[in-house]
Amino acid sequence: ERSAKQKMLEAYSQVAQMYHYVLTSTPYGTEAVKYLQKRGFSQQTIKEFQLGFAPDSWDFITQFLKRRQFDLEQMVEAGLLAKNEGGRIFDRFRGRVMFPIHNSQGEVIAFGGRALDGGHPKYLNSPESILFNKSATLFNLHRARASIRRRKQAILFEGYVDVISAWQAGFSQVVATLGTALNEQQARIIRRNAEQVTICYDGDSAGQEATAKAIQVLHQAGCTVRIAPLPQGMDPDDYLKQHGAEAFSQQVLLQAMPVTAFRLKHLRGNRVLNDETDQARFIQEALLIISELDSPVERDLYERQLAEDFGLSLDAIKSEARKVYKQQK
Ligand code: UTP
Ligand code: MN
Ligand code: MN
Ligand code: MN
Ligand code: MN
Repeated sequence: ERSAKQKMLEAYSQVAQMYHYVLTSTPYGTEAVKYLQKRGFSQQTIKEFQLGFAPDSWDFITQFLKRRQFDLEQMVEAGLLAKNEGGRIFDRFRGRVMFPIHNSQGEVIAFGGRALDGGHPKYLNSPESILFNKSATLFNLHRARASIRRRKQAILFEGYVDVISAWQAGFSQVVATLGTALNEQQARIIRRNAEQVTICYDGDSAGQEATAKAIQVLHQAGCTVRIAPLPQGMDPDDYLKQHGAEAFSQQVLLQAMPVTAFRLKHLRGNRVLNDETDQARFIQEALLIISELDSPVERDLYERQLAEDFGLSLDAIKSEARKVYKQQK
């Protein structure tokens, strides 16, 4: 007799195939195919990522699983089905484009389901289960791992769609968290495969805040971090679709900044530094960030940059720095 885990894996595998079939080979999938085409996903990508469509039905997958003799209570636990207060069992995913989520062995253990334009919530994910530990899973790791090891670098995105877009554009060392902040476990998994991580989160304030947190978690895990800048309001998928792979490589990935440079940029934000008081305070805060660098050479480089930015003598910056660093100790 096979364990509950085996049964659930089997169900996920069969359901992923079914959703893919509905998308690619039935009239129920037509609208979703159009949606994916409009978003620029090729047929090959749809196939490679086994994207699917869950029809807008309360019992399509329930009946499918029943016919195949799966225990429906167990399927509720697996998160493929849901149950209301009256004990009635129904399809969890309805009218959504389905993104299979795999474990590191490449087995489907969960889905992300995206509503077609305008639906709420935008993404509905499988709940945690004995198969799916969200905080120990990275989207696309099983496909990206070899490339991450070879290149000694991982690129970290916020969304599934960013990963798939980048993969389609030829970037293979790409993974994403699953709608939550990067945690210690995920950082350790990345670190086991590569030391260098490039964070490429969305170009909005949520993305910036998430970047600041991810930096800490990755540092804790022993990773070296760089931050790839995106124009305000764009995410990696938007950028790739608008500007293409070459621009993404040259203007985003190759422009990735060390953490100190990112922090200084974040500190500056949109602050207007009109008078000397504002400027002096900003310089002190910047020096606090710079003071965290272990390397005197790196500190010197940033101090020179600061002097240049404000048209000050390096001596003035250095003497201010000594004061700030002393307070630090
Ligand atoms: P985003 O809102 O940036 O979505 O959320 P996206 O990846 O750009 O998706 P598109 O382009 O609008 O289709 C980033 C990630 O946060 C999680 C998902 O994992 C998503 O990939 N998320 C977002 C949810 O889990 N639920 C939501 O309602 C929204
Ligand atoms: Mn976002
Ligand atoms: Mn902030
Ligand atoms: Mn996004
Ligand atoms: Mn997006």
